[in-house]
Amino acid sequence: MASPFDALRAHHAATRDTTIAQLFDTAERAGAFSARHNGLLFDFSKTNIDRQALDLLIGLAEGSGLSEKRAAMFGGARINETEGRAVLHTALRNLDTPVIVDGQDVMPEVRAILDRCAGFADDVRAGRFTGQGGRITDVVNLGIGGSDLGPAMACIALAPYADGPRCHFVSNVDGAHVADVLKGLNPETTLVIVASKTFTTIETITNADTAKAWMAGKVADPAAQFAAVSTALDKTGAYGIAPERVFGFEDWVGGRYSMWGPIGLALMLAIGPDNFRAFLAGGADIDTHFREAPLAENLPVLLALVGIWHNQICGHATRAVLPYEQRLARLPAYLQQLEMESNGKRVAMDGSDLPFDSGPVVWGEPGTNGQHAFYQLIHQGTRIVPCEFLVGREGFEPDLAHQHLLLVSNCLAQSEALMRGRSLEEARAIMAKKGLTGAELERQARHRVFPGNRPSTTLAYPKLTPFVLGQIIALYEQRVFVEGVILGINSYDQWGVELGKELALALQPILEGKQSAEGKDGSTQQLVAYLRG
Ligand code: F6P
Repeated sequence: MASPFDALRAHHAATRDTTIAQLFDTAERAGAFSARHNGLLFDFSKTNIDRQALDLLIGLAEGSGLSEKRAAMFGGARINETEGRAVLHTALRNLDTPVIVDGQDVMPEVRAILDRCAGFADDVRAGRFTGQGGRITDVVNLGIGGSDLGPAMACIALAPYADGPRCHFVSNVDGAHVADVLKGLNPETTLVIVASKTFTTIETITNADTAKAWMAGKVADPAAQFAAVSTALDKTGAYGIAPERVFGFEDWVGGRYSMWGPIGLALMLAIGPDNFRAFLAGGADIDTHFREAPLAENLPVLLALVGIWHNQICGHATRAVLPYEQRLARLPAYLQQLEMESNGKRVAMDGSDLPFDSGPVVWGEPGTNGQHAFYQLIHQGTRIVPCEFLVGREGFEPDLAHQHLLLVSNCLAQSEALMRGRSLEEARAIMAKKGLTGAELERQARHRVFPGNRPSTTLAYPKLTPFVLGQIIALYEQRVFVEGVILGINSYDQWGVELGKELALALQPILEGKQSAEGKDGSTQQLVAYLRG
């Protein structure tokens, strides 16, 4: 029996010659290939998904067991099978309904920890908790991957709401990162948060040691200006951080899904607990929509299906995330981890090889910057890059509304240009107007052709408030879940990061000259010799 994937591929092959622009033959296309929810508009009409393709895609989702798997996730089942863990970051933003794990409601503890974080944030922001030189002016979050990207991205995104201490983020083990951040700070008024789910991550612990040494000698008790966020409370204690400044969470919160809980502490310090709760409410709003809306109107499901269509059916390996919102500058990097660490897998849940490609390569930069950098390839290169535009109706700078208008017009212009392109005829006419003729006109015209028929989607939102940011992040998280279900993979482990960590540990004594490089491949030996100098 043909699989739903085969049916979709066959449909794609049969409709290959129909352009996206031709699909706009009826006035209803835009509305029919869009979905709205609580202020958000997801428009996927500028793709080559037609009615039959959409029906087949919805059928694919229905047949994947999505409803049962979604219920299992929200219900606390151990759907992260290779680590034997539940996947319940959703509990961190659902503050009303009981969530039972192993027969126990985890919500009282979730609420208690949120209240403790909020209490600490209030104390710091109000000057009741101080550094040894007075009120806390700066917060340095030491963390990497999921313990960095979420709060770092959100602190930039929600800058208009920042009225607390300045927040800085150090992730890289490269000493340049920590050195550059600490250089401008006063150790007597700086709070350091060591954010690590496992509290074993070499980058974070090394940076914590460096920050401690930086404070030592300048304040009497450096540990008194350290807080920790982790699941490993034994390790935070051993590191000398007092329990009242340790904020724990459970192993059912995956690293890249953790910004809703204590890992968001730096964000909470920056924008305050009320705004942080509004961010949680945005996430909860999408969870409710995801659980209740019919598949054909369900935003995370539609985002996932468009992604599957482009990647697994049309064969486009990458996805560009292009926010027309400078404050979402770190969103592409955040989504890169979310999507690629979750769905960049090669085997199915049962260990068998995947019969198709797994998740896409995700990358991007804010518009309009990207337009002056890599859009050339997107418009005229030989590869097709499905683009995901994000754009807000309103900015935060009322005096600069004319700039916001320019921003929005550029965003809309890009998706229009990608779809319609410019024909050889049109390019010839432009060259003729410039006075060119003959072979030179033809040659120059060919360089100015845009093939068009390039797919894009647009997620439009009212304004980048904490609530809307919460909606956007939860929307992408649940999209990753749906894609994972359809592909039959475990989106919640990350074994692919382990080998490099092991080999890096083994290389340290070799680089220190304490061990020989014998047995390493020739290239590694040559590089070791060069880098040891
Ligand atoms: O190495 C990958 C990873 O495990 C990510 O999944 C995680 O977000 C990051 O490292 C940081 O881990 P931790 O919070 O345990 O320091």
